[in-house]
Amino acid sequence: EGIGEPWILSRIRTIPDFPKPGIKFRDITTLLNDARGFRKAVDELVQPYVGVAIDKVAGIEARGFIVGGAVAHQLTSGFVPMRKKGKLPHATIGQSYDLEYGTDTLEIHEDAIAHGDLVLLVDDLLATGGTADAAVELIEKAGGKVVAACFVIDLPDLGGAQRLRDRGVDVISLCQYH
Ligand code: PRP
Ligand code: HPA
Repeated sequence: EGIGEPWILSRIRTIPDFPKPGIKFRDITTLLNDARGFRKAVDELVQPYVGVAIDKVAGIEARGFIVGGAVAHQLTSGFVPMRKKGKLPHATIGQSYDLEYGTDTLEIHEDAIAHGDLVLLVDDLLATGGTADAAVELIEKAGGKVVAACFVIDLPDLGGAQRLRDRGVDVISLCQYH
């Protein structure tokens, strides 16, 4: 059910019934824990953008900070943490999105992205796309241009990749699970 190269699939752990019965949780801590695996994952995410003037990498809390921080360092780009509501200390702009039950809000500092900035969006996993869609909305609200949205894992059956492509965002993922 995993589609991708053995080096990455072999380093992702699947936890049945987490956080709820029936969910197969794709755990990337085992990939991050492996020095060669972590480096190769970051190298592959960065590869299409070597030589491209990416101003900012935006990483989504929490696991997007780990992957996005490494991507930003390798591209010599600035890093923008996209945080859950109430965590950032300075003035913020936010974007709400629907969860299975209720809503949540992503925030960035109002001065984190300049008008015209080229922004690479990074997260560990794309599922329904609700989170990433709100992230794109927020980056655009700030005046940034989303160059692409990059994920370690895509769950294509949940529709997130289609949802982002439908709004004109390029989507890249290193592996997929059906
Ligand atoms: C997970 C994942 C993505 C999001 C994807 O984060 O890291 O950010 O869900 O789901 P979606 O495509 O359906 O929106 P989670 O909400 O578990 O937050 P966390 O990283 O802070 O634990
Ligand atoms: N792993 C990590 N985050 C997630 C998952 C998963 O399988 N599904 C939705 N968010």
